Amino acid sequence: MITASKQDHDIKDVKLADEGRRRTEWAERSMPVLRQLAERFARERPLAGKRLAACLHVTTETANLMVALQAGGADVALCASNPLSTQDDVAAHLVRDHGIKVFAIKGEDHATYYEHIRAALAHRPDITMDDGADLVGALHMVALNRLDDLAPPVRKWIETLSAAERKALVAGVAGSTEETTTGVIRLKAMAKDGVLQFPVIAVNDSDTKHLFDNRYGTGQSTLDGIIRATNMLIAGSTVVVAGYGWCGRGFALRARGAGANVVVTEIDPMKALEAQMDGYRVATMAEAARVGDLFVTLTGNVEVIRVEHMRAMKDGAVLANSGHFNVEIDLEGLKKIARGPVAVRDFVEEWQLDGKKIFVLADGRLINLAAAEGHPASVMDMSFANQALAAEHVVRHAKTLTKDVHRIPGELDREIARLKLQAMGVAIDTLTPAQKKYLASWDLGT
Ligand SMILES: NC(=O)c1ccc[n+]([C@@H]2O[C@H](COP(=O)([O-])OP(=O)(O)OC[C@H]3O[C@@H](n4cnc5c(N)ncnc54)[C@H](O)[C@@H]3O)[C@@H](O)[C@H]2O)c1
Repeated sequence: MITASKQDHDIKDVKLADEGRRRTEWAERSMPVLRQLAERFARERPLAGKRLAACLHVTTETANLMVALQAGGADVALCASNPLSTQDDVAAHLVRDHGIKVFAIKGEDHATYYEHIRAALAHRPDITMDDGADLVGALHMVALNRLDDLAPPVRKWIETLSAAERKALVAGVAGSTEETTTGVIRLKAMAKDGVLQFPVIAVNDSDTKHLFDNRYGTGQSTLDGIIRATNMLIAGSTVVVAGYGWCGRGFALRARGAGANVVVTEIDPMKALEAQMDGYRVATMAEAARVGDLFVTLTGNVEVIRVEHMRAMKDGAVLANSGHFNVEIDLEGLKKIARGPVAVRDFVEEWQLDGKKIFVLADGRLINLAAAEGHPASVMDMSFANQALAAEHVVRHAKTLTKDVHRIPGELDREIARLKLQAMGVAIDTLTPAQKKYLASWDLGT
């Protein structure tokens, strides 16, 4: 449990706040859409009186989102959505300069990670904001009385609450927002099983989120994280990209741009065909394992790289993951068959296997957030504009939203794109009356 003196926060060192403030201001320069929303929020206060618990990567971009939500009137608590993704200076800045309740320390162990989730839940939120559904997942285990499925720090706290208090904790949530593909998949599965307890806005499903954040954000920052961790030369190497969804497409593009020979593995024939026609070599992981110098998983699935693949890899192969959870590379399997790990540099661990060495980056966790800084602010501008609008949408429509997974309305999505273009100084054409008429007709101009 967090000690009484730390009830309102648990961070590494508040003395890091100056650096966090400088870096957060730097990111803010590239977030014009969120800035406009924050200004409106400060005037209109749409979140006044609402408690909001967020479980997000604690980065400079997230700091700007938290400040925008606070400007809208929300009382905000923030914990990390990954043990390695917290920027401790940013956490310090939010606590010292904005009084935001932050519970996050980079490199926190499993128990501390869940203790921080407990602290965010103890904020008794009206709205939750997740990146990977950890808060919503815990709330549902409470609602369904599956306390054994809760991590011990959360379970112990829940056990101190009466049945009425537990019910109120879940019933108090008017709605939730979800940032990433993996979280949305889980929430849709909950809705399908009829167990979803409150409405959720799938921020990831907005076009101004996944088309840009997942593709260009993950593409660039994943390569950035790998290079920062290893300083390896990408040109001329063979890079195996597992998964050709939005993130995989973006990363394959950037790896090819840096001069790699890219091999794509997929399980979906449509995506595999697309990769083939985009000019990549498509292969099974069993084939790719023999030729790859660098392997990157971006699938949102489990055990994509397994021990049989690792056994087939070349000496010196490097393995990284940029999918949400650290389950895509079978590290448990590796531990059983290999000797190690030996830390060779920050975020690089060496394993000895069948007389050769393979290297795993960042313990198989999101490499772009562990070894680099996550997505550039300019792309998070749109993702977090969606988050802010989603929180406002939950408050405004709490009475009518059904217990299902929703998107934010299409016109808000397009408005974010319009504001982003405007901020970039890009003008586009508008339909002429004749064009509008033509597009609405079936008998003109044939
Ligand atoms: N690193 C980041 O900052 C970041 C950012 C956004 C999303 N994500 C995460 O990245 C993951 C992928 O997200 P996305 O938006 O690209 O999802 P997506 O659904 O668009 O793509 C995933 C792809 O992986 C494929 N796939 C599934 N199992 C596979 C397997 N065994 N082998 C090969 N391919 C397989 C699917 O067919 C699909 O094409 C998710 O976990 C998501 O939450 C990470």
